[in-house]
Amino acid sequence: MELKEFIEQLDQLEHQAVSELRQIADPAALEDARIRYLGAKSGQFKTIQKSMGALAVPDKPAAGKRFNEVKASIQTAFDEAQQRVEKQPAKVTGPMADPTLPGQRLRLGHVHPITQTIEHLKEIMGRLGFSVTEGPEVEDPWHNFVALNIPEDHPARDPLDNFYLKTAAKGAGVPRLLRSQTSTVQIRVMESRQPPVRIISLGRVYRPDEADATHFPMFHQMEGLWVDRGVTMAQLKSVLRLFATSYLGGDVHIRFRPSFFPFTEPSVEVDFWWDGRWIEFGGAGMVDPNVLAAVGYDSEQYTGFAFGLGVERLCMRRHQVTDIRDLYRNDVRFLRQF
Ligand code: FA5
Repeated sequence: MELKEFIEQLDQLEHQAVSELRQIADPAALEDARIRYLGAKSGQFKTIQKSMGALAVPDKPAAGKRFNEVKASIQTAFDEAQQRVEKQPAKVTGPMADPTLPGQRLRLGHVHPITQTIEHLKEIMGRLGFSVTEGPEVEDPWHNFVALNIPEDHPARDPLDNFYLKTAAKGAGVPRLLRSQTSTVQIRVMESRQPPVRIISLGRVYRPDEADATHFPMFHQMEGLWVDRGVTMAQLKSVLRLFATSYLGGDVHIRFRPSFFPFTEPSVEVDFWWDGRWIEFGGAGMVDPNVLAAVGYDSEQYTGFAFGLGVERLCMRRHQVTDIRDLYRNDVRFLRQF
């Protein structure tokens, strides 16, 4: 090969490589150019270098000098291109964010409607002079039955009507159960203090009831108890009427229907007049002298009334909820409305 031809090849490569490298704008194209021109195996530069062996010995110094110059100039062009590409901000793919759009509103959680109802009921009854007491949800038969005048053979104690706890029965020898009514708290309060007593207790109770539109196996009751000298059924009716009027609004009429509970005598079912019909909200009555005796109160001196109302039924009436199960489905579309 002639020196002239060798130099021409080098010139041409230099021109082509440098002008291409100057225009390169992205990393993929730069890498492609590096392989084509400077690649160690089959880059064009390597090919020319190989052909240098075919030159006459006296031409070699001149050829080598030019070869090194071209190599340096392509390397410089490559380094510059690399710096330029690396400095460039990453290409934005997809649509640009619009900073003028309104932000997404954060959804705040809030208190469950039954908890809201409980707070509301406490507030109304507080104004009527009733203080709030708590009682345990796991009970023994004494508080759930015996002290409430429910004897051993009473159908209310049937295992099919209660959630007895297996584990508790094994340990202490005393069977335990999830309380089936908040009336248990009446006993706990009267055992621990002397009259006068004027309390309410709100909490969960459990019964193996089939769930339907008005029943759920876990629900809440509001228990009320007032024991003092000279407490009468007329006061019971007044308190319930004042309560219903405050909670449901308007002048709510109350109806007592004769009923039976072992722990009250007489006993009544309490109905509220609502939307053109009578609706049952709970049971009530005058505390049975046997119950007063069980907790050591003198039934010659003291009388009292007690009532137990279904909290879900109250909440449902007020908010026009027609199915109790909606309260416990945890569907936020429903719960968000309260
Ligand atoms: C009682 O539980 C008595 N302890 C009430 C009482 C207290 C009487 C004090 C006398 C003195 P009853 O089983 O009827 O009574 O229940 C009272 C209310 O709880 C019912 O009127 C109803 O509103 C509600 N209730 C009963 N079972 C369910 C259920 N499965 N789901 C939702 N609410 C219920």
